[in-house]
Amino acid sequence: MPSPQHAAMFDLTGRVALVTGASRGLGAAMSTGLARAGAEVILNGRDPATLEAQAAAMRAEGLKVRISAFDVRDPAAIERAVAEMGPVDILLHNAGNQYRGPVEELTEEGWHSVLDTHLTALFRLSKLLVPGMKQRRRGKIIATGSLASDLGRGTITPYSAAKGGLKMFIRALAVELGPHNIQCNAIGPGWFDTEMNKPLLNNPEWLATVKRRCPAGRYAAPEEIAGTAVFLASPASDFVSGQLIFVDGGVTANMM
Ligand SMILES: NC(=O)c1ccc[n+]([C@@H]2O[C@H](COP(=O)([O-])OP(=O)(O)OC[C@H]3O[C@@H](n4cnc5c(N)ncnc54)[C@H](OP(=O)(O)O)[C@@H]3O)[C@@H](O)[C@H]2O)c1
Repeated sequence: MPSPQHAAMFDLTGRVALVTGASRGLGAAMSTGLARAGAEVILNGRDPATLEAQAAAMRAEGLKVRISAFDVRDPAAIERAVAEMGPVDILLHNAGNQYRGPVEELTEEGWHSVLDTHLTALFRLSKLLVPGMKQRRRGKIIATGSLASDLGRGTITPYSAAKGGLKMFIRALAVELGPHNIQCNAIGPGWFDTEMNKPLLNNPEWLATVKRRCPAGRYAAPEEIAGTAVFLASPASDFVSGQLIFVDGGVTANMM
């Protein structure tokens, strides 16, 4: 049985967390983790029906959850939603999309869609939520990065630019907000079994790459990201800021 002191380190009771891209995949898993640690979680995505289904599954477990459907690429929609939701103690910006292709074939529209979803939305949400965090003198800003925050791979240049930019936005924000007791960090997932990776999951060539590059030799289940999100949202990480923590089965430690 863990001691009360241990439990308190990870206790999110009384905290409100906004998780973008929470209707499925890593966002749903991290939301469930935060709610199980005691937080009231606001689930965001674009489709109210999918969000409601995820919320119902969590409520069936006795967890506290609300939904807020908006497109994170739409600044007016973000403003409206944030104005309605009241104080937010934890921002976990996780919404993500992908747009692949050789650079000469990419469109302006595709480029901006990826940059807006991963990076500009993080700026817009931070801008609106930081004043309240400063007033309360506490806050956690967490963003989902990627292996692509640090490592290059062809045909995903917009995604890599967005995830690399997100890492540096978080580092700079950590410096700016440290004096206000607001910690900012990123999580870098390796290869997880989610909708976004469906095109790769059944590709034997890609599976061979995963086995070779990932010391764990496998894809991860979405639930395997939750512990790191809880850590970065909780008092246990009050002296951790400006970091990108990889949850990748050892990929980024592997020279070969
Ligand atoms: N899976 C991996 O292996 C992996 C690895 C590294 C990093 N990541 C990152 O982890 C995050 C989650 O990925 P995932 O694999 O869980 O993807 P996923 O299963 O495709 O889920 C993406 C989530 O984002 C939401 N979303 C997408 N565009 C949105 C928008 N414009 N506004 C609001 N919500 C939006 C989706 O809901 P709606 O479509 O209903 O809006 C969904 O809830 C992403 O940032 C991704 O880049 C994933």
